[in-house]
Amino acid sequence: MGTKRRQPLIQRCVAAVILLATTSLPLAQAQRPKPRAAEVTGDNCLTSGCHDGLSKTAFIHAPVAQNQCGQCHRPADAEQHTFALTSEEPALCHECHDADDLAEAGGGDASGQLVGHAPFTAGQCLTCHNPHGGDEAQLLRHGGKSGLCMECHDGDVELSGRVHAPIERSGCTACHRGHQSAYAKLMRFPPAEACVSCHSKTMEQLKTAGNVHRPAGALDCQSCHKPHASTERALLGHAYSAKTYVPVGQREQYALCFECHDAELLEEAETDATGFRNGMANLHHLHVNKDTKGRSCHVCHESHAGAQSRLIRDTLTMGQWRTPLRFRETPTGGSCGPACHAAKEYDRESPVEWNTSPPMLTEPERGLGDVDRKVDENGESPR
Ligand code: HEC
Ligand code: HEC
Ligand code: HEC
Ligand code: HEC
Ligand code: HEC
Ligand code: HEC
Ligand code: HEC
Ligand code: HEC
Ligand code: HEC
Repeated sequence: MGTKRRQPLIQRCVAAVILLATTSLPLAQAQRPKPRAAEVTGDNCLTSGCHDGLSKTAFIHAPVAQNQCGQCHRPADAEQHTFALTSEEPALCHECHDADDLAEAGGGDASGQLVGHAPFTAGQCLTCHNPHGGDEAQLLRHGGKSGLCMECHDGDVELSGRVHAPIERSGCTACHRGHQSAYAKLMRFPPAEACVSCHSKTMEQLKTAGNVHRPAGALDCQSCHKPHASTERALLGHAYSAKTYVPVGQREQYALCFECHDAELLEEAETDATGFRNGMANLHHLHVNKDTKGRSCHVCHESHAGAQSRLIRDTLTMGQWRTPLRFRETPTGGSCGPACHAAKEYDRESPVEWNTSPPMLTEPERGLGDVDRKVDENGESPR
């Protein structure tokens, strides 16, 4: 990435003025003798019918709207009707826009340590702003609040897959400052508020739930989510299946969890690498790691927080059926049910003898009706 090089200002200005004056005017006007630059007083440029396009854009810079062309342009060559700028950027802009005000407008807390945005610090106001006006608010160029930024950040920000709603609704400046910021990466908000400033419901859930998943509680939302866009659902950084059943061995379907947790909790039939075991019999393996219909993590665990310990969901939700998942933890194990099966205990130290495999409850017993069929049809567990 790099700041795009621009043609020298005066050169472009002059070239465009000549172009405008000689080729792009309606015939009647073009045949009219060109006003000599010396005659331009600054109050007749818009009304003369030559540059009135400048007053017809959706957003117009105040001095342009007021026909004060002379604030920024002075005649260069009277015969040629060419003009020079009264001064170069950023001095031209600082004549009316106090540098300190800009810092505040762009950075929030001007007293803090401000980190400047490279093109702003370099005084390249015209790279981002059109001096006259245009179709975008804040006189922004290149389609405004996302298009402008992507002109230079195409290589840093991947917008493929589902794009985070605020980018589509308000653009990059929903979260970033254009000029400078007191926070790293030009963020508008302090790191801990980067996500929950908008996601107040998630914040509420984290404050009120009895059991909080540690990275969510630490407001380290980006350990699981991407801020801009993702090809995974819910802006996740790695796959995490929302299906109820997932066939065997597909640990890549839960890649998100195994970024931090040891996949041994899933893969070994006998292990002490999980607390969810009866003696050494791995109950994660038993439930999840099956040839068909392995239960996904999502069936039992919340992602952010929940009322029950170990992030076990209160409710098993499948289609329109819901049934409570009653989890009781003991110092050496726990019990669950009745939900999918009759209540069952496990104990890590004195393994519980199950004389038969747990009798599966009939569908009417677990109050789920034709859940399996419903879920198999659409594959997804609705949330
Ligand atoms: C706030 C300062 C400012 C004001 C006020 C202003 N201009 Fe400009 N104008 C510029 C700058 C800067 C450029 C060079 C643009 C560039 O490099 O992108 C420019 C370029 C131009 C050009 C060259 C073509 C183009 O659009 O780039 C024309 C024509 C022009 N101005 C006409 C006018 C007229 C007519 C007015 C008054 C109605 C006016 N300007 C008022 C700053 C200003
Ligand atoms: C002659 C004085 C003057 C100069 C020179 C000037 N501006 Fe402005 N600018 C204004 C005024 C007045 C406003 C309106 C302020 C307001 O509404 O609070 C404004 C508003 C703006 C806005 C906000 C527009 C909006 O939609 O809210 C931007 C962006 C801006 N100017 C950029 C520039 C840039 C870039 C330059 C240098 C090329 C520049 N200005 C030079 C007077 C000037
Ligand atoms: C990297 C692009 C970029 C550069 C360079 C840049 N700006 Fe801006 N500017 C923005 C964006 C984006 C906004 C809108 C801020 C927002 O929505 O939070 C803005 C807003 C403004 C405003 C309106 C502030 C307000 O309070 O509403 C002014 C005035 C302004 N810029 C002037 C300047 C001047 C003068 C320079 C050069 C010293 C400059 N800008 C350089 C992107 C830029
Ligand atoms: C003219 C090119 C240009 C435009 C337009 C531009 N930027 Fe930048 N931006 C840069 C450069 C250059 C850097 C410094 C990159 C570096 O240090 O690696 C930068 C840095 C950043 C950074 C900090 C990156 C980091 O790793 O610290 C963020 C965030 C950023 N820009 C966001 C934006 C947003 C949002 C917009 C639109 C309002 C925008 N940029 C428009 C050129 C641009
Ligand atoms: C919902 C808030 C949000 C929006 C909207 C947003 N960003 Fe970001 N952006 C972030 C966060 C959070 C980071 C990472 C900050 C950190 O690591 O401290 C970031 C980082 C960046 C970086 C630094 C690169 C990196 O990977 O560290 C750039 C450049 C950037 N964003 C540009 C953009 C552009 C361009 C847009 C608009 C297309 C945009 N951002 C929209 C939140 C956002
Ligand atoms: C400027 C406000 C804003 C900020 C800041 C923000 N978001 Fe969002 N986010 C939204 C909006 C709006 C939606 C869409 C919600 C809707 O349509 O109900 C959304 C949706 C989401 C979704 C659901 C996406 C989906 O496809 O289901 C996730 C996940 C998310 N945001 C995570 C984050 C994370 C992580 C951060 C911090 C990096 C963050 N958000 C910062 C406004 C924001
Ligand atoms: C350990 C990983 C993880 C962390 C950390 C995390 N999330 Fe999520 N988040 C998820 C998953 C997974 C989903 C998808 C829903 C599901 O499967 O439970 C999700 C869904 C969401 C949604 C969509 C609506 C919803 O609740 O389903 C939003 C918004 C959201 N997260 C915001 C946040 C915010 C804000 C933070 C930081 C406070 C955060 N997340 C931290 C994993 C995480
Ligand atoms: C960014 C790292 C990270 C990711 C990703 C992550 N976790 Fe965690 N998880 C942790 C940490 C840290 C703890 C606390 C460990 C401890 O207390 O020893 C934890 C604890 C847990 C616990 C035990 C909670 C308790 O109350 O003891 C469960 C269950 C859990 N995670 C499930 C998941 C699932 C399911 C996923 C995938 C959606 C996941 N985790 C993804 C970091 C992560
Ligand atoms: C059938 C329900 C169920 C499913 C499905 C399930 N878990 Fe668990 N999980 C539990 C229970 C119960 C515990 C609590 C074990 C204890 O400490 O007594 C637990 C504990 C955990 C812990 C805490 C550390 C440990 O191993 O004791 C993590 C991390 C975890 N599960 C991750 C996952 C991941 C990742 C998946 C999907 C690959 C998953 N779980 C699927 C029920 C389930």
